[in-house]
Amino acid sequence: MSGIELCIELRLTSFNMLFERNLTMIRYSSIVFALSLLMATWSAHAQTHQMNPSDLEVPIADVKVVAQGGELFSEKCSACHGGRGVGTGRAPCLSCGKFMFRGNTNSEIYETIHSGTPRTGSRGGKMGAFSSVLNNDQIIAVVTYLRATEQARIASSEIKDPYAENQDAMVFPE
Ligand code: HEC
Repeated sequence: MSGIELCIELRLTSFNMLFERNLTMIRYSSIVFALSLLMATWSAHAQTHQMNPSDLEVPIADVKVVAQGGELFSEKCSACHGGRGVGTGRAPCLSCGKFMFRGNTNSEIYETIHSGTPRTGSRGGKMGAFSSVLNNDQIIAVVTYLRATEQARIASSEIKDPYAENQDAMVFPE
């Protein structure tokens, strides 16, 4: 190998090493970037609740909104639906993750509170509209309170997770 060849060889090697180090850096930073994106999505998800991407998003981690909703609920709803919305003989549970009347999305729950339960067939007709009693923000606060309570009841195993798959599957103890 001549002097020139050696020189070129050395230059190429150091260029390659530099290139590979840069590549490793790029790979490393894209992993970090992807991870931070994932964590941001996760924490945003934990802060709010919605049943699908187009559903009304409610801030279940906002203690102020939850507290405001809780006060309104005790005042206007608990006489029929019970404390923490656990339900009574007169009105169904609102913190069990099941809303059979109109549907289980936050938007549908909002609509039920807003316009009541009009009689349809053999169902409904027992709850009036709250549109003239509660404004938009207050109804959202009540929905937020109900979802936060539902999540807390699931987390403490007070109720079975209504969203878990196979919850009605047969169980065969060993
Ligand atoms: C006078 C009693 C009464 C009051 C007060 C009342 N509700 Fe109801 N609510 C009912 C009854 C009864 C039903 C079941 C449907 C029916 O029979 O009309 C119901 C149904 C609902 C539903 C639908 C439940 C489902 O399974 O889909 C929601 C949501 C709801 N109420 C929220 C509220 C909220 C929030 C308040 C307070 C702002 C409230 N209700 C106040 C009696 C009441």
